[in-house]
Amino acid sequence: MTRVEEHAIWPRPRIEDLPQNSATPSLMKVVAIFQWLVRLAGLTAIVLGLTFWSGHALNLVPVHMLVGLVLVLSLWSLASIAAFVRVHSGLVIVAFVWCFVVPTLGLMQDGLVPGGAHWTIRLLHLFFGLIAIGLGEVLAWRLRVSA
Ligand code: HEM
Repeated sequence: MTRVEEHAIWPRPRIEDLPQNSATPSLMKVVAIFQWLVRLAGLTAIVLGLTFWSGHALNLVPVHMLVGLVLVLSLWSLASIAAFVRVHSGLVIVAFVWCFVVPTLGLMQDGLVPGGAHWTIRLLHLFFGLIAIGLGEVLAWRLRVSA
């Protein structure tokens, strides 16, 4: 009888209850790939974003948005794996919500808090992006220690 995680959003097996075959190492490889995608996309988004902040390379905003999308989709993938195999439900829900929050703020930020205080929205956008990278790290770590 497969045990079910206490905090599960829906009943699902714990990763340690899955059949011990070659699936777990393969899953960890997939986790590592998405974790690196989050890291690389995050770093690229930060570098491009700070370049925009200094008033340069604004023609690369679409590239920045694409890179942000890669980050969000990779985080979404990590959260989906975590939801399926078992990782604290609260963390998984926060990660899913964050996958909507980051692009939504990114797309809306231009019209938010116009004027002298607009830098607060810019800072918030950067901060939200950093949290997304952090969530990718925590999810990957939780998946790894659960395996
Ligand atoms: C799908 C996700 C994202 C979208 C749609 C998005 C969109 C944007 C847009 C439209 C700008 C304004 C450029 C301008 O000044 O005209 C911007 C700037 C910036 N972004 Fe993003 N972004 C995303 C993800 C990220 C992430 C993940 C990070 C950091 C980890 C980040 C960091 C920054 C920074 C530092 C700036 C410059 C300051 C600012 O204008 O807010 N962005 N982003």
